[in-house]
Amino acid sequence: MQALLSQLLRDSDSNTLWIADENSKALLNGGLGFAGLLISNRWDIAQAAEAHGIRSHFGDFDLATMQATYSRIVYPVSKEKAAVHHVINRAADLLQEGGELFLLGEKSSGIKTYAQKAAQCFGCGKQLKKHGNDYLSISSLQAQSEHHSLDDSDYTQLRQLDTVGGLYSKPGLFGWNKIDTGSAILACHFADYLPNTPLNDLPADELRVVDLGCGYGYLSCRLAEIAGNPVQLSIRATDNNPAAMLACQKNFELREIEGRVIPGDAGSEIESGSADLVICNPPFHQGFQVEGDLTDRFLTQAARILRTRGTALFVVNEFIPLGKKAQGLFQQVDMLNKEKGFCVYRLTK
Ligand SMILES: C[S@@+](CC[C@H](N)C(=O)[O-])C[C@H]1O[C@@H](n2cnc3c(N)ncnc32)[C@H](O)[C@@H]1O
Repeated sequence: MQALLSQLLRDSDSNTLWIADENSKALLNGGLGFAGLLISNRWDIAQAAEAHGIRSHFGDFDLATMQATYSRIVYPVSKEKAAVHHVINRAADLLQEGGELFLLGEKSSGIKTYAQKAAQCFGCGKQLKKHGNDYLSISSLQAQSEHHSLDDSDYTQLRQLDTVGGLYSKPGLFGWNKIDTGSAILACHFADYLPNTPLNDLPADELRVVDLGCGYGYLSCRLAEIAGNPVQLSIRATDNNPAAMLACQKNFELREIEGRVIPGDAGSEIESGSADLVICNPPFHQGFQVEGDLTDRFLTQAARILRTRGTALFVVNEFIPLGKKAQGLFQQVDMLNKEKGFCVYRLTK
């Protein structure tokens, strides 16, 4: 898909909007000339774009406040249906008359269905072309056509969900409407790592915690619940996804947690040596791809962020060789538990 996307962007003018999630990352890393505006719901992508001299905006595909001035919108489709429907709906508001929405994706991305949906939303004919393994859908906006909005599951709205223990969440973030099994298993170990417990050398009254890849803040909220009042927690939660940041911030307010939510790439914006405890369920997918070096990046950052003798608690799918990857970065690496396809590790610096 990179070749097709690269060609489309190079041929585009300054009236083009590129909607870029993690599937666009490889292209930016390779360098690219693009004259338009890039909007991304990934912090690292918006940063990479700026570094390449591309105008960019980081946000949760918050397109509602933008002016309708675009002649072309280019969007390699996301993995989540609600996000794709949200973008198609908003594209119909943002394009000039005669403007075009280009959707790209491999067959397995659902592109054929999205081409149909975009045509239905714009009230135009379906145009779908095959380019090698990829497909390109083009929908053209005509003012006189009747537009039909697609169901985007109220993409922009945070909502309180029983399925995530009464916390707030929303579409657009990892596993937004469920508790991750690995995270639930990891949280069962938290009680052992609070101050004044035999396993730890943490200061008695305050615990500086970093929640790395925080999502809607499940791990931080569980830790705060388990720690209760006697322990003064100071939490920094970080993620590269603005939907996650919005939800996590809301949950800190809901649970009256002393915490800050910080954007970053695998914890890149957190000060070195500043945490007593790091808690993490690292991602291993980047868009449609499984991405092995994401785990390495999270481990390297955890080692950098921890103070000497601090502890990191990680949970990963059992097929990820975290123990091996962590050797050399930490003083001690112990597997604490193996359950339901997940492994919990304690990493000591
Ligand atoms: C497996 S989820 C865990 C979420 C949350 N901690 C939980 O337990 O429910 C991994 C998280 O890492 C985030 N993530 C993915 N790539 C990232 C990156 N490069 N930098 C920071 N966070 C990232 C995702 O947005 C997601 O929220």
